[in-house]
Amino acid sequence: MTQPALSPRFSNAFAEAVYVGLSKRPQKELPSMYLYDEVGSALFEVITALPEYGVTRAEERVLKAHAADIVAAMPGDIQVAELGSGSGRKTRLILEALCKKQPTAYHPIEISRTALQLCRRELSDIERVSIVGHERDYLAGLSEVSAKRKDGERLLVLFLGSTIGNFARLAATKFLRSIRGMLQPGDALLLGTDLIKPLPVLVAAYDDPIGVTAAFNLNMLARINRELSGDFPLDAFEHVARFNPDARSIEMHLRAKRALSVRVRGADLHVEFREGETIWTESSHKYAADEVAPIAADAGFECTHQWRDEQWQFAESLLVAK
Ligand code: AVI
Repeated sequence: MTQPALSPRFSNAFAEAVYVGLSKRPQKELPSMYLYDEVGSALFEVITALPEYGVTRAEERVLKAHAADIVAAMPGDIQVAELGSGSGRKTRLILEALCKKQPTAYHPIEISRTALQLCRRELSDIERVSIVGHERDYLAGLSEVSAKRKDGERLLVLFLGSTIGNFARLAATKFLRSIRGMLQPGDALLLGTDLIKPLPVLVAAYDDPIGVTAAFNLNMLARINRELSGDFPLDAFEHVARFNPDARSIEMHLRAKRALSVRVRGADLHVEFREGETIWTESSHKYAADEVAPIAADAGFECTHQWRDEQWQFAESLLVAK
């Protein structure tokens, strides 16, 4: 995602985001992208294996069952770009299906160099694939890939894992429009969306009984302590996951168990918490399957196919640029 210019007051974007987010009234917040440092990314990998978190397995099932159909729906000379590089397991299913038909260039786009290296290690054994990593934010990377392709080559962009759910609804449409702006007619976006499901199932997916998601969330404060010389007492905060029925999203918060004050020297910040006050760290929006096509149309795509997992209500939609 495109980063705003950094104020000279702060040494890095994280420090500025912490200052701005924790100064907000009445709701303190921290951007969810900062959940993913090395520790947070490792914890997220564990989340994807939890029995309560069905998102990743559902998408793997859909891709296992339909990778050949997805590839068949995209005839011609295809290059693949992926927004984020993930663990590579799901991408492998698409690339292997495509490489049966043609040698394929794969462009993971990711701001983390380590993640790009991991992705190359995971996927370079696939026969006839060539991997070109782009250490860029999503839109800058996609614009680079799109501009450099040869005449007649079509792009298949992967945005998997229901990461679109971490955008507010209007921002999600805006983001899809920006993606469309980088593409040519006939290019396509394969979009994973987690679907609305019964409340207890949703809440358990974000508040697992062994506390992995709690650790993932609390690591945000630990990261502030490590990187910005903060003095958050971690045991004074607890993980909260709750459904927001208006936004149709699961929100993650960190709740202060008592009144306290915290200093974050690296963000030039002194902040007070009331007992019970929360920091909002993430929203995960859930969609109805038939919501995807109109949102896509609004952004300049036609939803030509949708494949669903019925075991864990999840949809993979192929959106073709009009
Ligand atoms: C990455 N993203 C799609 C995950 C989600 O489900 O919103 C992040 C996550 N947060 C807690 N558990 C998983």
